[in-house]
Amino acid sequence: MIIEVLEELLSKVLTKLNYETNVKVIKSNRPDLCDYQYDGVFKLAAAYHKSPIEIGEEIVLEINKLEDFNKYFKECNFVRPGFVNMTISDELINKFIKKINNEENLGMKKVENKETYFLDYGGPNIAKPLHVGHMRTAIVGESIKRIIKFMGHNVIADVHFGDYGLQIGQVIYGLEQEGISPNEITLKKLEEIYPKMSALCKEDENVKEICAKITKDLQDGAYREYFKKICEISSNDIKRLYKYLDVDFDLWYGESDSYPYIPELEKMLMDKNLLTLSDGALIMDVNDGYDKEIPPLIFKKQNGAYLYSTTDLATILQRMKDYNPDYILYVVDNRQSLHFDQVFRACQKSGLTGNTKLEFLGYGTVNGSDGKPYKTRSGNTPKLDDLFKEVKEIFINKKESNAYMLESDLDKIVNSILKFADLQNNRDKDYIFDIAKFSEVVGKTGPYILYTYLRINKIVKDEEVNELDDTIYNQIDRDLRKKLIEFDIEVKKAFETRMPSVIAEYVYDLCVIINAFYQNNHINGLEDQNKKNSWVYILKLANKILKQMLDLLIIDVPTIM
Ligand code: ARG
Repeated sequence: MIIEVLEELLSKVLTKLNYETNVKVIKSNRPDLCDYQYDGVFKLAAAYHKSPIEIGEEIVLEINKLEDFNKYFKECNFVRPGFVNMTISDELINKFIKKINNEENLGMKKVENKETYFLDYGGPNIAKPLHVGHMRTAIVGESIKRIIKFMGHNVIADVHFGDYGLQIGQVIYGLEQEGISPNEITLKKLEEIYPKMSALCKEDENVKEICAKITKDLQDGAYREYFKKICEISSNDIKRLYKYLDVDFDLWYGESDSYPYIPELEKMLMDKNLLTLSDGALIMDVNDGYDKEIPPLIFKKQNGAYLYSTTDLATILQRMKDYNPDYILYVVDNRQSLHFDQVFRACQKSGLTGNTKLEFLGYGTVNGSDGKPYKTRSGNTPKLDDLFKEVKEIFINKKESNAYMLESDLDKIVNSILKFADLQNNRDKDYIFDIAKFSEVVGKTGPYILYTYLRINKIVKDEEVNELDDTIYNQIDRDLRKKLIEFDIEVKKAFETRMPSVIAEYVYDLCVIINAFYQNNHINGLEDQNKKNSWVYILKLANKILKQMLDLLIIDVPTIM
């Protein structure tokens, strides 16, 4: 909003001065000096063989001559060596404040060319318990989904269950050994059998081979009854956990759903001469045209079994046929980056994806304070249920009254703790998950954010407001208003970088300013009705924006805290 307006204005000025360039305005690096800046003077100077000072001063002079200068600016000046610094008028700030308040979607223009994004996240494995690592892809993916939607694009989310791997063969083997028929399978049984079988396979080569054989037969169509039942029970439990996290998908497909597409895929790759035999396996070289050399993609094993790469390619074929999206994005553990390099190169080389763009959005590991993958107090890799319980307990123990809160409110707080802890980090990086720290009501935490919201809500919820006038009363007042009109800059940045942390950063900064505003500008008992009206208006809008931004972080607000 504000950036676009300034860019348009500057473009006009530059055109008038006969400079042809693509204008980019950014938030000021020196907020003490100005609000926004234009750094393109150097580039113009190089292109037009003039000195930056000459051009910069020329631009600033022209801006200051604008008939409606005061409508837009308080000040605009040139600072050596090459910056055009802009301080906007209070009138302009308030114009945007009203726009955000009155228009749909917080005044954000919907994108002009609406595109379709296919989002692959979650990726839980059937019959294996979900742990902390699975939470990260779910949360980061869901947040990215909401950000893309908020920008106005189409999003299709697919959970892509791992439902055809060795773990299913292991579980079927275990069930058969214990004489349990498909109808007798329970969740408890599954939770018992998988770790047992997985351990057994590590000890006993023979059993491992049998399980591999079962898996292969399963992929060839055997064991349908077992398979259906295991998937049903396990996926229902996974859905329950996702529901707790408010994470949802349009499609609940699994790797197995890609199998029908393999023959067509294989034929296409064969016809294009892209598959070669190597030790009885079918492989695809994916190195030509790239600097970095990587191992070939293995398409089919010697025993005829297909692999993870095969199902990912077949899944892409399926997605292209069903949706032909503009983008396919994968929110997957960084440790799978090589796999996706292979798959993406294979798509390029075979033309499978045409103009569709593929992106790997890797994420780092959730670590404990020892820097190793997170464990519970009892030393286990926590199952998600246990983690939820542990966080809830820690929060309850912080304050006596917490124990009397509504269960639904506690769940929202648990969600805020987990999600704000996670999403404030650059998704690419590992981070240390410190429950005690993240459940504090001070600091960069979910509870701090929620507390800010609720405190403001209490003050403004019963106040009526009239239209806003153009006065801004003091510096903190101006800081807050400016922060509010800048939310769209951050949403766009989060969208472009696929980084929810940008939103989390904004949310935290906004809360800090809101709290400073609240502490310095007392509303209760204010005599000046215009001032009171303005401040209530601003705080109401602050909370409205905060709530919307929290929604992008999948955080919901409890009734009280
Ligand atoms: N199930 C996989 C795993 O646990 C993640 C799936 C990611 N998505 C994909 N299309 N490969 O490692």
